[in-house]
Amino acid sequence: MTGHYLEIAYLIAVVLFMMGLKKLGHPQTARTGNMQAGIGMGIAIIATLLLYKNSDGAGIGNYAWIAGGILIGCIVGWFAAKKVAMTAMPQMVSLFNGMGGACSAFIGLVEFGPAMSGSLLPYATVLSCLVVGTLTFSGSMIAFAKLNGNLNKDIRLPFYNILNTLIMITLAGLTVCLLLHNIEDARMWIYILFGLSLVYGILFVIPIGGADMPVVISLLNSLSGIAAALAGFIYGNNVMIIGGILVGASGTILTIAMCEGMNRPLTNVIFGAFGAGGGDGGGAAGTDGATKIVRETNASDAAVMMNYSQSVVMVPGYGLAVAQAQHIMAEFQHMLEANGVDVKYAIHPVAGRMPGHMNVLLAEANVEYDKLVEMDDINPKFPTTDVVLIVGANDVVNPAANTDPDSPIYGMPILEVEQAAKIIIVKRSMSAGYAGIDNELFFHEKTSMLFGDAKKVITDLVSELKNM
Ligand code: TAP
Repeated sequence: MTGHYLEIAYLIAVVLFMMGLKKLGHPQTARTGNMQAGIGMGIAIIATLLLYKNSDGAGIGNYAWIAGGILIGCIVGWFAAKKVAMTAMPQMVSLFNGMGGACSAFIGLVEFGPAMSGSLLPYATVLSCLVVGTLTFSGSMIAFAKLNGNLNKDIRLPFYNILNTLIMITLAGLTVCLLLHNIEDARMWIYILFGLSLVYGILFVIPIGGADMPVVISLLNSLSGIAAALAGFIYGNNVMIIGGILVGASGTILTIAMCEGMNRPLTNVIFGAFGAGGGDGGGAAGTDGATKIVRETNASDAAVMMNYSQSVVMVPGYGLAVAQAQHIMAEFQHMLEANGVDVKYAIHPVAGRMPGHMNVLLAEANVEYDKLVEMDDINPKFPTTDVVLIVGANDVVNPAANTDPDSPIYGMPILEVEQAAKIIIVKRSMSAGYAGIDNELFFHEKTSMLFGDAKKVITDLVSELKNM
């Protein structure tokens, strides 16, 4: 009977996971969604501890150890989540992915037993869980070190792509051999498989460029979900299977969405075509030899222009995050609105360096959600916009994506800001963005450059408005 109650508890947990996941899709409901999924996980854990019985009718046991683990995990998780800076979110996600992978790896190691040889499906599940969990763990740890600044270089061993492919083939081959043959000292081979998976995870992530890390993190996130689902199959535990599949599927969808947003195939990111990226300052814009005119403006003129407009669209980008200018930008927005200007933010799906980067930044500054307009909805509004204020964005407004078939970003959907009446671009210099390519928008007749650090420039704009 307790088995039925356990399955009912799991069903409730899974429904809460799904409702939570749905709500995470919008900033306004994300907090509730996170809470709901957390409650679901709490129900699943408590129900397992109290109601689980194995085939011999024995319960979980080892309660003291489990309580100790839960206590340590709760304390560390609580403080980490409370203290983490918004800018350090990607490395935190990476660390959590790694921990998920490590759990699955340990499950694979512990649940392997000599008796398994011969029973194909459970054995295959244990081995896959071990391999996927281990490489997720080591890959995520490297990703963490890179994002946290502990590992600054993108290390590319000679023929690294060939080497990685060879290790992957060896891993697959060894797994199949272990499955099909009754190998005498299988335990030793399991440790070799474990070691090889650790190495593969490291070698897979070390060559990838810092700015491509969000895509890799999302991929590792989906792998951690797959590993958890495999662990669920080992225990025949429905909530682990469904929870893992939800993480695996949503991570995969996010990875694909990010690649589409950048118009780059996933293989391109993994094999690092311009993965060494992070090209801020990489190349000067407009260096094709022709004389081009850059029109510069100052805070006073820019403030007057925006104050006497009817509509202003602000385009935030990576530079806004670097300068931490979101709070002052929100203050500027409110001042313009108080003077009767209609202000909106145009959000490009891959502006910044992580999914939802701009949404998170602006939410931190308490910008109202309805002010944030997605690319597809704002693009038709640019022709009727008086001023576009671009702050620390570059690639996401680069018209070459529409006009230059030779450009590496050709085909990437962009914010079509050149349709507006006037454009003001805030950045520190004429240098390129992440993709390292020229941007003709800087020389457009409608464009005025407002050079400087975003926080300093917008603070000046606010002062100018106050003095009017
Ligand atoms: P970028 O094209 O990288 O341009 C950012 C600009 O900000 C730079 O040109 C830089 O110019 C300026 N900047 C930097 N620090 C600044 C500061 N303190 N004050 C003012 N300006 C500053 O950014 P974007 O337009 O947001 O585009 C994002 C790029 O990242 C895309 O190419 C996208 O494909 C890529 N990417 C995104 C993601 C996700 S998921 N969001 C993941 C991987 C890659 P100066 O140096 O002249 O100031």
